[in-house]
This record gives sequence, structure tokens and C-alpha cells, in this order.
Amino acid sequence: VPQGLFDYIDGGAEDEITMAENEHAFRAVAFRPRAGQRVESPRLNTTVLGTPVSLPVLLAPCGLIQTMHPDGALGVIRAAQKSGTIPVLSTFSGIPPESVASQPGPRWLQLYAVDRHMAKDLIDRAAASHFDALVITADSPTMGKRERDIRHTSISAGPISLSTALRMAPQVLLKPRWTARTLRTTISTLTTATLPGRPHGLRPDSATTTATAPPLPRPSEDSETPLAGNASPPLVSPFTWEDIAWIRDLWSGPLLVKGILTGEDAVSSLDAGADAVIVSNHGGRQLESAPATLRVLPEVVNAVGTRGEVLVDGGIRRGGDVVKALALGARAVLIGRPYLFALCAAGESGVERILEILRADMARTMVLLGCRSVADLNPTWLQ
Ligand code: GLV
Repeated sequence: VPQGLFDYIDGGAEDEITMAENEHAFRAVAFRPRAGQRVESPRLNTTVLGTPVSLPVLLAPCGLIQTMHPDGALGVIRAAQKSGTIPVLSTFSGIPPESVASQPGPRWLQLYAVDRHMAKDLIDRAAASHFDALVITADSPTMGKRERDIRHTSISAGPISLSTALRMAPQVLLKPRWTARTLRTTISTLTTATLPGRPHGLRPDSATTTATAPPLPRPSEDSETPLAGNASPPLVSPFTWEDIAWIRDLWSGPLLVKGILTGEDAVSSLDAGADAVIVSNHGGRQLESAPATLRVLPEVVNAVGTRGEVLVDGGIRRGGDVVKALALGARAVLIGRPYLFALCAAGESGVERILEILRADMARTMVLLGCRSVADLNPTWLQ
């Protein structure tokens, strides 16, 4: 793939401290194994919000997957389903929800919205296209500063300007196979909104505005009259707790809030009607110096108690990392970069392969630990 697309996947915000910390946090945790157990086939299956999965590793919502390989988003969904897990389609995956409506098996939709008009449109379409659950991303009121993207001009969904095309020309010319494949692929944005970071300001729809709760603001509407030299970034998807409660009333299926890093925010998510939270710092792509997700997982698990489920993503690179997250109370994890690299390299079968690698590594870790089932994992399996 062109350098810009590789960096979109591989990179993070600013100095990539949080991105690196996510992985370090897993490395810093050691197991506390039990000898003498003879575990033959450890059970890796569980349920996530009532949906059975054969492996507690879900595919995180990721933008632009349609451009990464001709198998695209549909290939990712098929691979997840063949592997017995749940794919989460991003608002900006590059295909509309309708295009997977006839696909069997569970799937979730991730939601970004610049205003309630866009939110309602996507929620209605998610329901009509048989998505099982909705994932609200709460960590992206604006986009993080990804300097690799600035340097190499990441590919965006939506119209590519002439200057972007010219800046990208050398990278694209170096990757003729990708270019030929991608020119045959249709990339569409889900709504009239553009990729986060480039909002063009949807008009608020008065029909969806209620007297009791104000709508998500238009980019710029929320701010005071700009001061000279005002450096405020554009608001992209500024969900408030009131917006999440409003979405709860519109969506009858399971609702998750992604991007939670404190016990207080986990409780606010549940109070707004969420069934689960995803502990996430967006793979270190948003707030630089946000904490590593594994380090805050116990705080969130403790705050949620039995009121909901807790999932976690960020830095999971090995089956053993999945085991560590589950031992600290996660119901399941999500992976992003590992399956995107697999998708770029080998399409749908690459995504299946990465899930099989994680499954085999998880099973080996469980046998070596002496633990029979993911249901038995708890903090006593860690130092
Ligand atoms: C979108 O969510 C991104 O991280 O690029």
C-alpha cells in the first residue's frame, strides 16, 4: 500500500507515546501460572453482550478498510464470521451499512456524528441493515494530531482534492498494484459528511432537535466568536452524555460506549443507558499521553461491577495479551492494527489467519498457565 495509507494504519498521535505505552503495559504484566493441571483443550469461547463468540477477540472499527485490499470491508466481516467473532464496521470504513445488510452473522456499527441529523440517519440505516449493536466512539470530539498523516497525506474517504492527489502521486506511482486494485474499488462515505478532521458542517436538522436536549453542535457553532489567531480545532464527533441518552432512546439493541478511560466515565456511560464500555485510547491516535488501556482497565472494571460488560483495545499483539486483559476483568478485547496489516497483506484470508494465530497463541498460553477456561481467568493468574 502507499506510504500514506501504511502510516494511517501504523501511526498514532504526536510523539506516539500512548501508542507505545499500550504495548508496554501488556509487556509489564507477568503471569502467575499453576503447575500440575493437565489442560488439554482450554475453552476460549464466551459471550459478548449475549452473542456467543468462539474467540474473545473482536475486530475494532477502523476507517478506510475498503482501500486496504479489494476484499475490503465485506472480506473483513466474512473473516470475522468464519472465525466465530464479531466485526465492528466503522462509520468511515468506506462502505455504506446497506451493503452488508444481507450478510449473515453478527456485526456491530460504530458511530461518529457531527450532529443529531447524521446520528439519526446512521442509526436508522444500522437498524434497517440488521446491525446487532451500536458502538458510540466518545473519544473523538476532534481528531488527534497524527503527524505521519500530515507528512504523507493520508488517503481520505470523500473527494480527494487536486493538491492532495498531486502530493500523493509519487507514493501511488510506487505502488502500481495497489493503485490498479483500488481504482476498481468503490469508496463511498456513509453520509454527506466527510472523514473526521474534515467536516464540512452539516446543517442541524430541526426535526431531530428536541426542546429538552440540545443537538450535537455544528463544527464551530459551540465556540465563541473566534479570537484572532484562534487555534481551536474543528469539532468532529462531540457526543455529550445527553446525546448518548438520546441515542439510547432511538436504538433498541445493545449499546456500547468506546473510548472510556476512567471509572467515572464508565458509570456515566451506564447511566446514559449503555450496556457496555470499551476501554480505549483509540490505539494512541487521539489524546497523546492518555493512559495505556491495560493500566486503567481495573479501575473501569471495578466501577462497572455487574452493571455491564467491559471490553478493551490498544496494544494487543499476542494471544497472551488477550489472556492478561481477560484476567483483569475484560469480557473480550478488540484488535485494530494486527488485522489491518493482515488485510493489506492477504485480504480476507489474511484476517482469518491473524485470528487463527491469536487463537492458537491464546490456547498455548492457557495450557502453559494451567487454566482450563477463559471463564476461570481472574487477577490471581497475574503477578
Ligand atoms: C478513525 O477513527 C481513525 O482513528 O483514523
